[in-house]
Amino acid sequence: MIWLTLNDPARGCNSYLLGDEVTGTALAVDPLGALGPEAYVLAAQDLGLAIQHVVETHVHADHESAARELADALGVAVSVSHRAPVAFARRPLHDGEVITLGAIRVEVWETPGHTDDSLSLVVRDGHRGSDPWLVMTGDSLFVGDVGRPDLAEASPEAVREAARRQFETIRRLMTLPDFTEVYPAHYGSSPCGGLFMSRKPQSTIGYERRFNRFVRIDDVDTFVDHVLSSLKPPPVDAPRIRIRNLGQAVL
Ligand SMILES: [Fe+2]
Repeated sequence: MIWLTLNDPARGCNSYLLGDEVTGTALAVDPLGALGPEAYVLAAQDLGLAIQHVVETHVHADHESAARELADALGVAVSVSHRAPVAFARRPLHDGEVITLGAIRVEVWETPGHTDDSLSLVVRDGHRGSDPWLVMTGDSLFVGDVGRPDLAEASPEAVREAARRQFETIRRLMTLPDFTEVYPAHYGSSPCGGLFMSRKPQSTIGYERRFNRFVRIDDVDTFVDHVLSSLKPPPVDAPRIRIRNLGQAVL
């Protein structure tokens, strides 16, 4: 497996390039507008890879995505949840679907909570073994924190319901083996999580199972109260950015 993180420290955003060294095929996840589509094309070329899939873990509200620009440049459709209310033609992803890159299998899990369309991507490398090696958790599970449930919901009741879905999502992610590496879409000062998000950009399921204060809560109402009481201020310009990333307008 070839693995590369491309990040934007100013906004605490992570994006990923995942490739199979035998077939030279690759997948880009959550490409960042701050870096531009060229960054991903050039990084893939450097690694001897051809990007065949551009995946969004969800419609982002904190930063402008480069997914559509990158997909257009490559002549493919953006792969995003069938639940995402996007206004552009996309490849709709469903729970349990597998994207194959040679011997690498990328399994789609619907992990709602932060948004209704949130996905996680569970990666197995057949060159090494049959167990999951890593999971890209989008904005569901962070290092030390979980994704906020309020950015795509209008009413307090809907936000609480989204937080309840986040609780179920975290329970599901915790069915993965302890050694599974966790690569979230954000770290550090990103406003997509709460007050406890670590500046360390990656972790493991086992470490978060033991030491993530939200994962350790086993009662859904307590979880919801803790998440909602530890929110940071929302991202600056979130409604405009979300509309832009939905493809409803280019502002
Ligand atoms: Fe997000």
